[in-house]
Amino acid sequence: MLLKNQIEFYRENGFLILDTVFSDAEIEAYNKKLSVFENHKDKPSVVCESNGSIRSIFAPEKQEPYYLNLVRDKHILKVSEQLVGDNLYLYQYKLNIKEAFVGQNWEWHQDFPFWHFGDGIKNPELISVMILLNDVASYQGPLILIPKSHSEGIVSLNEKPHLENNNDLKNSLNTDLKYNINDELVKEFAQKNDIVTFSGKKGSVLFFHPNLFHASNTNVSPFTRNTAIITYNSVNNIPEKKSPRPDYVCYPDHTALTTL
Ligand code: SIN
Ligand code: MN
Repeated sequence: MLLKNQIEFYRENGFLILDTVFSDAEIEAYNKKLSVFENHKDKPSVVCESNGSIRSIFAPEKQEPYYLNLVRDKHILKVSEQLVGDNLYLYQYKLNIKEAFVGQNWEWHQDFPFWHFGDGIKNPELISVMILLNDVASYQGPLILIPKSHSEGIVSLNEKPHLENNNDLKNSLNTDLKYNINDELVKEFAQKNDIVTFSGKKGSVLFFHPNLFHASNTNVSPFTRNTAIITYNSVNNIPEKKSPRPDYVCYPDHTALTTL
């Protein structure tokens, strides 16, 4: 469980990093199963880079049930419940692989516009949890974020006329995001509050708010960056209608999760 000052830090800054929450052995057990996905590259829930290496695996537990343990793990579920202040269900779950030499960047964005406009989620009462599945150094394209940028709600987004009527799922997953943040605004917030890099030991965990500005660079290093990102939503923030997006991007089951 978190201390009061950790909860206050999250509220003020929009993120919280906890070092080595998981042991090496726990993380290795997940890592060992990663090869399973090489056989599922043809599935729509597996997104690949242009050279064919895996970029994202959505709903990994459908292919390898062992990954469900991570979602219900007490270290992260209890803390997430504390930070959101409610019971939670699994909203989205993906493994983001940034392959050595080729893993591409993510533009500056907030996650909530995709969920609000795409899935009909009313309030930003969600939380994302990024878990490092290997040691991540600053040269491996770690997630970078701007503290306190979550406080303004959904901000002014870049106009992307070529994507306006394009509801292709790819544009929430590839390097040309449908909703990304205006450069001037990124600059303004970064000048005020600086940029934090989420690098560190495997098993370290980042909790972050759905409106927090974040991005990451291409991984030109010779070391692959393996991460899992779990997003939980409050059971009191369920969309009124079923999302038009596929179940592997927005789970239709709203049952409150319990810890293992
Ligand atoms: C994301 O914003 O969903 C992913 C960013 C990353 O994997 O670096
Ligand atoms: Mn994101």
